[in-house]
Amino acid sequence: MYCRYVRVLIVVLVLSVVACGPADPPQPGAKSGGSDAYDIAKLMASADAAKGKAFFMQCRACHSLEQGGKHMIGPNLYGVFGRKAGAAPGFSYSDAMLAADVVWTPETLDHWIEMPAKLIPGSRMVFVGIRNPQDRANLIAYLQAETGDTAGMSPEEAAPAGEMPQEP
Ligand code: HEC
Repeated sequence: MYCRYVRVLIVVLVLSVVACGPADPPQPGAKSGGSDAYDIAKLMASADAAKGKAFFMQCRACHSLEQGGKHMIGPNLYGVFGRKAGAAPGFSYSDAMLAADVVWTPETLDHWIEMPAKLIPGSRMVFVGIRNPQDRANLIAYLQAETGDTAGMSPEEAAPAGEMPQEP
């Protein structure tokens, strides 16, 4: 009788070790914040600026968008696309922002809006972040429309190299 219990116990122990075993090694490609788990260009292609406008409510206490708009707690964002971080004239940025090697594109903005402190640690922008990638894409589309970006296109898109008429 006693032996059988021991045997059952051993079987149970072995089974539980086996069951736990394969889960232990870290899985390559496992989620690490999720930043690379989606394609921002794809999301931008189907982004809805009108929906993004609602999310700008979370920014407007600190940012204006229109050309010549005032700096508030944060800098005016007109012309922000294609500009280096920390470069709006007349705004006093944090040292972290001035030192950051970041140019604002839909991709860098996506990371910024997701979690400012992760993209530029030590910046003074206090913002919790927007979790949903499509929400961020919608907001970025709205920003492109409102800040004078070339129809929301990157320079390559605006003037595709292959389509330049080149007569020999
Ligand atoms: C509580 C105020 C606050 C809120 C809310 C806020 N920001 Fe900011 N933002 C700032 C400040 C302050 C800076 C400058 C940070 C620094 O100098 O470290 C900044 C910087 C930025 C920059 C960089 C500008 C540049 O010239 O390099 C962008 C882009 C930006 N914010 C976008 C947003 C967006 C989009 C939202 C809403 C999702 C938002 N911010 C919400 C305060 C805010």
